[in-house]
Order: sequence, then structure tokens, then C-alpha cells
Amino acid sequence: MKKTLIALSVTVASVAIGASQSSTEPREQFGAMFARIEAPTQSAIDAPLAKLGRALFWDERLSANGKVSCATCHMPEDGSSDRRQFSIDARGKNTSRHSQPIYNAMLQTGGLRWTGDRPSGAAQAEGSMTGSMGFENRDLALANLAKHYDKASFAASFPNEDAPVNLKNMAKAIEIYEATLTTPAPFDRYLAGDNSALTPAQKDGMRTFVNVGCAGCHSGALLGGAMSMKFGLTKDYWLETKSPKPDEGKFISTKKDEDKFVFRVAMLRNIANTAPYFHDGSVQKLDDAVRVMASVQLGRQLNDTETKSIVSFLESLSGSTPANYAPPK
Ligand code: HEC
Ligand code: HEC
Repeated sequence: MKKTLIALSVTVASVAIGASQSSTEPREQFGAMFARIEAPTQSAIDAPLAKLGRALFWDERLSANGKVSCATCHMPEDGSSDRRQFSIDARGKNTSRHSQPIYNAMLQTGGLRWTGDRPSGAAQAEGSMTGSMGFENRDLALANLAKHYDKASFAASFPNEDAPVNLKNMAKAIEIYEATLTTPAPFDRYLAGDNSALTPAQKDGMRTFVNVGCAGCHSGALLGGAMSMKFGLTKDYWLETKSPKPDEGKFISTKKDEDKFVFRVAMLRNIANTAPYFHDGSVQKLDDAVRVMASVQLGRQLNDTETKSIVSFLESLSGSTPANYAPPK
């Protein structure tokens, strides 16, 4: 089923190659494969729940060692990801996979994290307490939360609850805050009809991206984030990424053979700002990541012109840092 989808989009693409390349806007040919994202409204940013979530997200006191906040591994200067291959958690240990961006992450429909195993932002935030944030168990995490947040600080967001300070509400607030972190980019202005939003090189890049077959997996508003696929369809991925230790992906938790090396198709929003690449941060540069993808997912060696072209298109997916992606005053 998933294979058919890819084959189909490749066929559509090869028809399009024959059509006149520069006179028509690539939006007319390919725009329907993608969709725009919108900036958050001011009222969404100002909602009590989102403001509470913002405070919690940036609060280092919410970790077991008092030194790690969510933002420690999701930094504004790294597109809300982490330039380190692996991040260091509140136990002083390396994370097992590379940190992922928070911007636009709540729009993903294929589950969260590299293997799509967390159903929601709230589930992810709650799980982090006994994961990255370093608590031995949930009771300790809750006691710590209650030490730093009194009933009044949660009451505006949960007015009808007797005991609003709990991990579930904490997680909900963080999720609502994360949902305000969308980053519209030149690509969105282009899709909306502004022909000057993309450079001619980026428009060529959009054609190359689709014609080569990338959009078979990386489509929709986020150019990914909606489904999972085997990483290494036409070649074992580690032969190209040089990963020292193959990660079996979804298989690790499901133990089903068909889940071996299956990962969620990464979204490509802000991809130019979130190096290093892949679940193990094994590839430093975006042009190399693009070559690896073509080789292991599509069985194709890209030349330098094609690679550059795709990279310049991907650069049009970068938006600016949301004004509320900073600690509250
Ligand atoms: C020690 C570093 C670290 C800390 C602290 C941390 N994260 Fe993460 N985060 C990661 C890593 C690594 C991943 C990828 C995990 C995986 O897939 O195995 C991730 C993934 C995520 C994702 C999934 C993104 C996606 O595209 O699916 C979200 C959402 C997220 N973190 C939110 C949070 C929140 C909220 C907190 C605080 C409660 C937090 N993180 C704390 C390192 C960290
Ligand atoms: C068959 C599906 C498929 C196709 C086709 C595909 N990708 Fe991917 N892509 C994935 C998956 C799955 C991942 C996640 C890999 C991982 O977990 O490390 C990914 C990851 C990426 C990443 C790294 C994302 C990150 O955050 O580190 C980039 C960049 C990328 N793809 C670009 C492309 C480009 C460019 C093409 C076309 C040359 C392409 N992909 C074709 C499935 C695909």
C-alpha cells in the first residue's frame, strides 16, 4: 500500500519532467502535494494554558538535577533541536537518539519521536519526566512539580479542579504551548500565490524534489511527519550514513519483523537549521543527507546540480524563531 503510493507519485513526476520547465510555476504542477502552515494567533499565544506551558517548558527546576529544562535539548539557536549528535539528560547520560525539533511538531499525524511511538505532545511531555528529565518515578516528578508550582499557578488554566497541580495537567499545558510554535516560511507564501517568495533556484529545487521522488514520502504541510517507512529501502542505510551501530527502529518495541529499521518519515520544516541529521545524528551536512536519502530510499545517485537544487528548495522551508520560544519574563 505504501509502496504503491510512492510508485504513483514517481509516475506523476516523470510525466511532469516532460512538461515545460520554467514557464509554469511548479506550484501549479505540484502544489497539491503540499499544504501551508499558519502562524499562531495572538490569542492562542496569550491563552493561560499556553502561558503556563511556556513557563514549564523553560523551567530547569522541573528536572531531577535542577539543571535541565525541555529547552536544554531543544534550543532556539538550533531550530528547536540540538546541534549535538546526542543530548545529555538529567542523569548525565547521552540520549539514545538525536533530538528533534519542537517547531511544528504538534501538526504531525504519524505519532511523535523518531519511531512515532508517542501518541501526543502531552504523552511525550509526561514520559520525559522519567526519561530525559531524570526522575526515578512519577511520584518524585509530581512532588517536585508541586514544590515549585502552587495551586494558584495552575488555577487559571484548570479553574474547576480541586487539585490542578498534577503531571497530566502539566503535560497538557506543555502540549498547548508547543502547538503555538509554528513557523510559516517563504514556501508557505509561495503556495499562497506569491511567486516572488521563492528564488528561481528554489523553484527548480521544488521540481527536482518531486521529480526525483522525495515527495513520495515527504509531502503534506510538513513534508513528512505523517507515516512511517523503512529507512534503507534500496540499500542498508548504515552503508551510507556510516552509523557505527544500526538502530532497528520500531522493531525494538514491537518485535515485528516488518518494523525492522522502520522510522517515522521526518518532517522537513526548518531542516536547514537542525543539523546533524537522521535518528542518530550521523550525517552533519544537509547536502550529504539529501544524497543519502536518494541512495537508500530511491536507489539513485544524485549529481551535484540536483543535490544543490534540492538543498536550495529545502532552505525555503525555514521560518523564523517564534517570539514566544524563549523563557517567560
Ligand atoms: C536530554 C535532552 C532532552 C530533554 C531534556 C527533552 N527532550 Fe524532547 N527529545 C529529545 C530527544 C533525543 C528526542 C527524540 C527521542 C526519540 O525519538 O527517541 C526528543 C523528542 C521530543 C519530541 C518529539 C518531536 C517529534 O517530532 O516527534 C517532543 C515533542 C519533545 N521531545 C518535547 C520535549 C518536552 C516537552 C520536554 C520537557 C518536558 C523535552 N522534550 C525534554 C531530547 C530531549
Ligand atoms: C520511502 C520514503 C522516503 C523517501 C522517498 C525519502 N525519504 Fe527522506 N526520510 C524518510 C525517513 C523514514 C526518514 C527518517 C530517517 C531516520 O529515522 O533517520 C527520512 C529523513 C530525511 C531527512 C533527515 C531528517 C532529519 O530531521 O534529520 C532528510 C533531510 C530527508 N529525509 C530528505 C529527503 C530527500 C531530499 C529525499 C529525496 C531525495 C527523501 N528524503 C526521500 C523517508 C523517505
